[in-house]
Amino acid sequence: MTLTEKIRLAAEWIAASQRLVVLTGAGVSRESGLPTFRDALDGLWARYSPLQLATPEAFVADPALVWGWYEHRRAAVRRAAPNPAHIALAELEALLPQVVIVTQNVDDLHQRAGSRDIIALHGAIMRSKCFAACRGEPTLVEVEELPDAAEGPPRCPFCGSRVRPDVVWFGENLPAGALQRAAQLAEEADVMLVVGTSGAVQPAASLPFVTYRAGGQVIEINPVASEITAIAALWLEVPAGEALPSVVEAVRALRGEGA
Ligand code: APR
Repeated sequence: MTLTEKIRLAAEWIAASQRLVVLTGAGVSRESGLPTFRDALDGLWARYSPLQLATPEAFVADPALVWGWYEHRRAAVRRAAPNPAHIALAELEALLPQVVIVTQNVDDLHQRAGSRDIIALHGAIMRSKCFAACRGEPTLVEVEELPDAAEGPPRCPFCGSRVRPDVVWFGENLPAGALQRAAQLAEEADVMLVVGTSGAVQPAASLPFVTYRAGGQVIEINPVASEITAIAALWLEVPAGEALPSVVEAVRALRGEGA
């Protein structure tokens, strides 16, 4: 099947869907200039060790290093803009009865592109919270209002503990309710569109299998095969920023919606 035929078929399935779930990973933000984690050449884990930067133990061992790395990533997110993939996904919401974005990403590009129903499984890098969760999990802290710490993270204004990014680190639980809602939606989905994830990290990577086992169709957009590809009824082997605008344009035509 040619790419054009695959795009057409994907659009037909999506246009007919009543309960679409879109699972995204770092690949959907790649064309916004943000690095992925496992791309062989420039993935973050090719250059840094996740165990030194993305665990609670790493933060306790060297809060300045971890905080500094997230400040560096936050600055990159601020400089980035939603790319055509984020924008196309946001446009889908107006064309279909249900579109829920379940993202593993901690950047805010889906929000900035205009998507409204978003489940952020791994938190949000632009939010900060008290490391001790002194007023419950999460105790959010507006770091812009805090005195600049000479070195490393600022202190919680309520209890004095260090402030950390509001993201899920390895070994930590996902935000309460997020995974449950995502799993329920995956069970009920008639189509799951999987965009830009290696499918390497649980429990997020189990969601396409939930849809597949419940009889839903899985469509994957990824230039490289992933852990999900084996159960994908359609695999568009192209970057998301190229494929998604064409898919959404075809969905719009099939739905007979205005341009
Ligand atoms: N369009 C679509 N997919 C792309 C693009 C692109 N332009 N560029 C790269 N990809 C694909 C890669 O082929 C890869 O399969 O995106 C995927 C990125 O995979 P990972 O780097 O493993 O990122 P992700 O799957 O989101 O990682 C999941 O791991 O480290 C944790 O918490 C972190 O949320 C992250 C989780």
